[in-house]
Amino acid sequence: MKDQFARTINYLRISITDRCNLRCFYCMPHQPEHLCHRDILSYEEIARIAALAASLGITKIRITGGEPLVRKGCAELVAMLKQISGIETVAITTNGTLLEHALPELCRAGLDAVNISIDTTQEATWRSITGYDGNMPDWPDLLQQCIGYGLKTKVNAVLLSETRNQWTELAALAEHLPVDIRFIEQMPIGQGKSSESETAQNVLQELRKQWPDLHPTEDMENGSPARYYQSKKLSGRIGLIAAMSNPFCSTCNRIRLTSTGQLKPCLSYGQCTDLRTLLRSGASDEKLLSVMGQCIYEKPQRHCLAAKTDKAEQQTMNRIGG
Ligand code: 5AD
Ligand code: SF4
Repeated sequence: MKDQFARTINYLRISITDRCNLRCFYCMPHQPEHLCHRDILSYEEIARIAALAASLGITKIRITGGEPLVRKGCAELVAMLKQISGIETVAITTNGTLLEHALPELCRAGLDAVNISIDTTQEATWRSITGYDGNMPDWPDLLQQCIGYGLKTKVNAVLLSETRNQWTELAALAEHLPVDIRFIEQMPIGQGKSSESETAQNVLQELRKQWPDLHPTEDMENGSPARYYQSKKLSGRIGLIAAMSNPFCSTCNRIRLTSTGQLKPCLSYGQCTDLRTLLRSGASDEKLLSVMGQCIYEKPQRHCLAAKTDKAEQQTMNRIGG
């Protein structure tokens, strides 16, 4: 369906847990207060909302967290979502640490695409960003496995000053693998407020030292926030997501469902529609459809990340789903 500014909304991101096995400093509070199990939607509740969303024109769903793979049965949810008529694509965003083990099940369930959050290929830096004391996954091997399963595979890296001297090495993952490497400006939400982001322009400048022929591609992907660049020496593309320096709100096609069942029309605002209370008080499909439709219609024109406003989102990113 279209919102009040005639944007087609066809993409729903669903956070299935606030929990994560990592503690990336820009995302997770150090000692997060976790939600109780009864506060988060069951898979059946999520599937009901997703089916209603499909009838409003949602065709693509992404499962996020926290880290979605720490919640049991994530693959079952993928299968449930894939059965919904109108849903063409089900994707997942993951930190990659639990992915290798889960891949066969996820793919059997019909998963179409995966975004892996990889801020750096250097283990020491990765550990200091994530606070994790286990091993860093072997990224090229993991990406190769995803591609082997036929998944559309992308890498997301938040632009941090800590990784500045490693951007080129990270981008080099696209030399031999057909994966898009997307650099994302850090947004001042939750923990992300405490440090400044590097800009997308900086990363482009840096990468052009290695690949001087990097040039914008013609094909603007529908609704994708990334501007893509290509080089003859890279099989995959470089994506820049300049949420702060060059907002993409005018072509935004997404809404979000938090793990507690709040439908959020924009990441940056606290504003949301409480679907959980309705679900659990026996609301009919008609009632749910009408409040969901209204929430989508009223999606704000642009984000408020650069503004001082009391309407801004106060929750941390792990609760919203990035
Ligand atoms: N700004 C931008 N991206 C963020 N993520 C988490 N916090 C922020 C932030 N403040 C990203 C993660 C992951 C996705 C779930 O959200 O790196 O790619
Ligand atoms: Fe976990 Fe991703 Fe947040 Fe890192 S950015 S703490 S991996 S949810």
